Amino acid sequence: MIKGFIFDLDGVITDTAEYHYLAWRELANKLGISIDRKFNEQLKGISRTDSLEKILNYGGKSQTYSEAEKNELADEKNKEYQKLIQSITPADLLPGMAEFLAEIKAANLKLGLASASKNGPFILKRLGIANLFDTVVDPESLKKGKPDPEIFTKGAKQLGLTIPECVGIEDAEAGIESINAAGMFSVGVGSPEAMRFSDIYVAKTAELNLEMIQKQIKS
Ligand code: BG6
Ligand code: MG
Repeated sequence: MIKGFIFDLDGVITDTAEYHYLAWRELANKLGISIDRKFNEQLKGISRTDSLEKILNYGGKSQTYSEAEKNELADEKNKEYQKLIQSITPADLLPGMAEFLAEIKAANLKLGLASASKNGPFILKRLGIANLFDTVVDPESLKKGKPDPEIFTKGAKQLGLTIPECVGIEDAEAGIESINAAGMFSVGVGSPEAMRFSDIYVAKTAELNLEMIQKQIKS
């Protein structure tokens, strides 16, 4: 029986995946590296430092910068990203998410956040939904980020639930891999291609609802 949901944030609850992309693209351009949306799929769910490494590798510049310079580049991206998230309001919840989160709470199920983003708590507050979450996994506490299962395993533990009692929801390939590796039921939001490894998927957040997911788990 399902007792809790563990959500990714960026690209599932609100469209900050787009802001991450815009901020990375700007930084990459400055470094003479051109990234597109297809490449960006690989960055979804991945920590700030790992994302920078992937971009530098892609541009053939993995040896160009010192650790200190890489830290500065990651900070620069984060500053640009933080400019973009200042104006987030509850209206920026993705379609159907306010209803879906309310439905979960009304059914007395637990709610956890498993986001790789250190900006996650700020965004939850801006969206006006911080109080709905029973727990938030601190990404700084993790030994390994997505696709490692640690973040979802920890989320379940923090909720006081077992793995089979939880459902994980993600928009990133690395995120689905993380949920699956934890042994949890995975729900993907996105294209059939990106979500090919999820247990079930929907194209849009508006299609998420409790009954549909519970039915799919039973069948
Ligand atoms: C994930 C995003 O949720 O958080 C990634 O999908 C992002 O794109 C990662 O890089 C880390 O976020 P932040 O805000 O700590 O740089
Ligand atoms: Mg995401």
